[in-house]
Amino acid sequence: MLGVAGGIAAYKACHLVREFSEHGADVTVVPTPNALKFVGAATFEALSGNPVATDVFTGVDEVRHVRVGQESDLVVIAPATADLIARLAAGRADDLLTASVLVATCPVVVAPAMHTEMWLNPATRDNVATLRRRGITVLDPASGRLTGPDSGPGRLLEPAQIAELARTAAARGGLSRPLEGTTVLISAGGTREGLDPVRYLGNRSSGRQGFALAEVAGQLGARVELVAGATDALPTPANTTVTRIESTAELKAAVDERAPRADVVIMAAAVSDFRPASVAGAKMKKGSEAEAGLETLQMAENPDILRGVVAARESGALGGDTVIVGFAAETGDEDADALEYGRRKLLKKGCDVILCNEVGQGRAFGTPDNAGWLLTAPEGATDPADVTVREVPRGSKQEIAAEILAEVVRIRHADNSALQD
Ligand code: C5P
Repeated sequence: MLGVAGGIAAYKACHLVREFSEHGADVTVVPTPNALKFVGAATFEALSGNPVATDVFTGVDEVRHVRVGQESDLVVIAPATADLIARLAAGRADDLLTASVLVATCPVVVAPAMHTEMWLNPATRDNVATLRRRGITVLDPASGRLTGPDSGPGRLLEPAQIAELARTAAARGGLSRPLEGTTVLISAGGTREGLDPVRYLGNRSSGRQGFALAEVAGQLGARVELVAGATDALPTPANTTVTRIESTAELKAAVDERAPRADVVIMAAAVSDFRPASVAGAKMKKGSEAEAGLETLQMAENPDILRGVVAARESGALGGDTVIVGFAAETGDEDADALEYGRRKLLKKGCDVILCNEVGQGRAFGTPDNAGWLLTAPEGATDPADVTVREVPRGSKQEIAAEILAEVVRIRHADNSALQD
């Protein structure tokens, strides 16, 4: 069931119907009467293939409000206005949408859209807190251009973001806010190592896994610092500041500067292990002396940023309880399989968690889904056989992100309870 409240962003609900039905969902749109001032019922009926009603007096013989609410596997409300959120918090049932939410026992995901002042108003803050306490997933909105010339938090997330987050929330029975008050530093995308002003050496990373981590961490309540290299065009996640970098040196500088303020550091970027030893100041021209430089490149090794962050924690430059997560994209060979290389990498890098996955044959890079193993090392482990392995089933990059962050939350709680003992 897709609930639509009466805000200007209601037009984006049309895209959301598509997002869900293209994933195989049977969508029933339940607008508020005011939502139909922005988008006609005919549009929602045509897109969803289902009839649209706004009040409990239509189709009384079928007891509509009971049926739609009871039969849904997932209720998403986008956009949710301040008024709708207030009515939900009060437990009102004065139209079909609010009545349906009251009878729904499935996960309910609310995507707000309103002016910043309304979002930050104590009345709305209280109402949002009430809904969250009751187990409703109220997504934080995006920050950006609002209806008028103003800009700030309150903008409706993009339809693709809402659909992904709603699916992730539904799969986990809702999203709570265990990272409230924390700062999570995430690197994403591929590095580009310049050869001359025109050319670079890069890789096929899309940045999708790092952005998925930011999407979920932001909705778990964290303040996210996302340092991104080359990525696909992806919308900015909620509660996230994006800093763009190109080279490994720039990535290292950005990570090293931010890591001391972070409670969690996740290195999802595909970092180049080598860079051209020198960068030509002018374009290397065919037939010129410099052409030789294009035939045989002299390379220099890049620093390992992840190991640097681990070393900084050991030296006390970071908080001792900073949780550090790395990735290992591995292929197996005659010596060992991909998982074994992942176990070795966890110990070599010295981080707390590694998401290891097997790559090659179109797997992982640029694809919407992923699978792998979540590796954690017990305190003082030195033997790869001691590494704890948990299989992460194939799922969207956002579902993988949710698994990784659940592990991060477990580690943080274990740390805190150890302190309390
Ligand atoms: O050694 P490998 O490149 O397989 O390690 C992958 C992990 O290490 C990833 O988390 C990646 O972001 C990080 N890394 C890094 N600095 C490098 C190379 C990789 O932080 N120079």
